Amino acid sequence: MTDQNKPFYITTPIFYPNGNLHIGNVYTPSVCDILARMARMVGRPTYFLTGADENTLKVNQVAKAEGKEVMQYLDEQAVNFGNLFERLYVSNDQYIRTTDREVHHPGVIEMWNRLAASGDIYESEYEGFYCAACEGFKTERDLIEGACSTHGTTAEFIKEKNYYFKLSKYTEPIKKLIQSGEFVITPEARKNEVLAHLEEGLTDTSFSRPYKGQPNAILVPGDESQNIYVWGDALTNYISALGFGTPEDDNFKKFWPATVQVMGKDIVRFHAEIWPAMLLSAGLPLPKELLVHGLLLSGGRKMGKTTGNTIDPLEMMDIVGAEGLRFFFAHDVSLTEDGEVSKDLFISSYNAHLANGIGNLCNRLLKMMISYDVQFDPEAMKDTNLWKNLTDVVSGSLEKLDLNGYSAHIWEIFAELDRKIQETEPFKLFKVDPESAKQIVKELMEKFYIAVNFAEPILPYSVPKIIKHIQDREMPKDPLFSKINI
Ligand code: MSP
Repeated sequence: MTDQNKPFYITTPIFYPNGNLHIGNVYTPSVCDILARMARMVGRPTYFLTGADENTLKVNQVAKAEGKEVMQYLDEQAVNFGNLFERLYVSNDQYIRTTDREVHHPGVIEMWNRLAASGDIYESEYEGFYCAACEGFKTERDLIEGACSTHGTTAEFIKEKNYYFKLSKYTEPIKKLIQSGEFVITPEARKNEVLAHLEEGLTDTSFSRPYKGQPNAILVPGDESQNIYVWGDALTNYISALGFGTPEDDNFKKFWPATVQVMGKDIVRFHAEIWPAMLLSAGLPLPKELLVHGLLLSGGRKMGKTTGNTIDPLEMMDIVGAEGLRFFFAHDVSLTEDGEVSKDLFISSYNAHLANGIGNLCNRLLKMMISYDVQFDPEAMKDTNLWKNLTDVVSGSLEKLDLNGYSAHIWEIFAELDRKIQETEPFKLFKVDPESAKQIVKELMEKFYIAVNFAEPILPYSVPKIIKHIQDREMPKDPLFSKINI
């Protein structure tokens, strides 16, 4: 199979629906969407998954506070998230919900049965601290004067029966797979952090908790007094969505192992340790690569609900549009490092590269093409060297997951065209030597038309519009990407 035909399966983590999504959260699906569109552009059979992590206690608490039934609250949030993603032009093939008994639960049960069949599930008594807000067990080291270091609330001391997963058994196999490059973690810095943590040795982890009638719980097969706990449920979404554990598993056969699973560095350990251990125990292949992005910071601190420094993506889109966000993420945030975001940064990037960049360039070239009656054949562009070269750039950038390099490459072409207009001044030349001016505009327009086609993964709404304006030789009624005055 050539690279071009290789299936491309990309996933985001599933989002907690216990509040609204902030700009930091929508970064992951935006990055994935651009990569998925690049894969489709080069003709790879592509599957893009996102969804919601609905089986959490926090959701029950929020629903109760709002006076709603849990499922009513979750259904509303699924609509809200769906609308937000749609507005961002996120082209996911599926939105998985972990409360979905038909799609998700069979995969979780199958996973549990496989772990149990491998002898990796055992019963034990847990004795220690538990933070209800984190929904996690805590060691003394995680607490400050008995309170959770993240939430500041007192952790309860609990003693209960749990089923444990033999995570410790997989320390060495995972280490070897990472070191051999079979299981890739990008970037190198995150890979080294994971390896350093594996060096300490993994400890077995609790995979179930006593069932107390929580809505939507997935009960442990063969022991209905326990329900499957957080990661055993949530991580399995990446394969349950493909039909794993059901007779309709064609997508699983076609798309697993994932080409790339994307997440922020705050949740890399679960994906680089628990998830591969589960897959190894279940006799399934590991994803080929984890792409771990940095965190968006606001005022120098991680943007997050608990910090209270969030920017609302809906408000920001009202100003710079969905494409202003997408462009900023692709071009102005380093994919693998933390990056500061603010309203001003979004607006200045929009003005510099969308309003003054592609938008202004498009208006000027279209106007000259139409008024000087410059002829060019859009259909013939696919046979040009530049088109072929940019197709290779898409494939190469996709292989390296180099979103920043890709957007820089395309926008550098726009900048170069801008410079050429300044240098050659075809609008002045036309008055004295119309044929030469027309030739210059033709060449500039050809290059612009080609480069614009390749900007589609980043600007999926405007690119088809621009292409149509050029093909129809028609000026847009409203200026493209009008400038924002701060
Ligand atoms: N539900 C878990 C994931 C389970 S996956 C089996 C979860 N959800 S989350 O809603 O809290 O986070 C979803 C994504 O948002 C993660 O990729 C996380 O890294 C990302 N981000 C949350 N805050 C972020 C920033 N400030 N910046 C960039 N991404 C951030 O974790």
